[in-house]
Amino acid sequence: MTDYATLCAQLSAITEGIPYETANLANASALLWEHLEGINWAGFYKMEDGKLVLGPFQGKPACIVIPVGRGVCGTAVAENATQLVANVHDFPGHIACDSASNSEIVIPIHKDGGIWGVLDIDSPHFGRFTEEDREGLCQFVRILEQVL
Ligand code: SME
Repeated sequence: MTDYATLCAQLSAITEGIPYETANLANASALLWEHLEGINWAGFYKMEDGKLVLGPFQGKPACIVIPVGRGVCGTAVAENATQLVANVHDFPGHIACDSASNSEIVIPIHKDGGIWGVLDIDSPHFGRFTEEDREGLCQFVRILEQVL
């Protein structure tokens, strides 16, 4: 189980007062990669010109552009809601960047009252992400939002 209190404390410590977006996102993805067990991808997509564009991440190379409304990430933006997907093969339009992925969580990230982008985490295990992960990761995103 992930110790989200420690994870969030570490994120606060390394991002507080740092005005460099890429540096903060890169360190955030590295922290997730270190703390979460059983994942194969963790990273960010940022809204640019109305589309999601790949940002800093850990894991295998991934698709670069995702239209709003497409896949799990694009659905999170279209609905402005976290997507907790126990089996990605059952999700209509799921985009398979890594064929090893079987479950996924995508959390919208906000800035200035709009959607800045998303945090996306994949797992090779079915049903890897729980309500506890959703709560912990939402807290993680809230800390990140303070430096974006
Ligand atoms: N599976 C995502 C695409 C991004 S990769 O998982 C890194 C989706 O369906 O939006």
